[in-house]
Amino acid sequence: SRRITVRDIAAAKERAEKWPMLTAYDAMTASVFDQAGIPVLLVGDSMGNCHLGYETTVPVTMDEMALLSAAVVRGTRRALIVGDLPFGSYQEGPVQALRNATRLVKDAGVGAVKLEGGERSAHQIELLVQSGIPVMAHIGLTPQSVNAFGGYPVQGRGEEAAQQLLRDAKAVQDAGAFAVVLELVPAELAAEVTRSLHIATVGIGAGPDCDGQVLVWTDMAGLTDGRVPRFVKQYAQLRQGLGDAARSFAEDVVGGAYPAEEHSFH
Ligand code: KIV
Ligand code: NA
Repeated sequence: SRRITVRDIAAAKERAEKWPMLTAYDAMTASVFDQAGIPVLLVGDSMGNCHLGYETTVPVTMDEMALLSAAVVRGTRRALIVGDLPFGSYQEGPVQALRNATRLVKDAGVGAVKLEGGERSAHQIELLVQSGIPVMAHIGLTPQSVNAFGGYPVQGRGEEAAQQLLRDAKAVQDAGAFAVVLELVPAELAAEVTRSLHIATVGIGAGPDCDGQVLVWTDMAGLTDGRVPRFVKQYAQLRQGLGDAARSFAEDVVGGAYPAEEHSFH
């Protein structure tokens, strides 16, 4: 069967259907989510934290994004794959954004790209969309600006900030984005944005009324080490399970229980 496209996302909005999105960073995990029926997978620059061991998403490069995006595309058949444009790959302007987005579409095979920023990124979004590249925008808390935010505070609190968020949402819609991530936004404001846009909103820490909901998969599955944000719900305890498996293997090797007769050749 064919892949999900941005037209399916638009149709879901018309039918007021909610949909799930997860991050994925490798072919094997992506194939699990694809077979589980997750319609949209994001090769997020959160790979910087999850898989590459960086403190933030700021150091992630285009080479890293292209490598992992290609793996996720190869591991899936049905999901729409969205590739993040990393910090520094689109801020110089629309032409730089187009060059790097084109690389993710042509070389990695993604069906859409995502970039951060509302009004400030509207020109980039416009050129990509005019060039035939579907764009998912991302407003509210934009992690690539962690140094400017001084952390990861909830956005859009207070009348002025709320008005700015609404302007950002309208700006990315007018620029042609097919969807917009709302990160760390009060639930009431995210609901208002969702009502006032004809494109899909995708919430993360933005309450229950967005069209889609996205989580970083290692948070969702309980693989992340240590504290996870309050908006995360853990649907498995993979860190415990994987650690138990490794400890059992080690015990068996040290104690001589593995390999047993059925694992051996003669
Ligand atoms: O990189 C990422 O995982 C993201 C999502 C949290 C929206 O941008
Ligand atoms: Na991201």
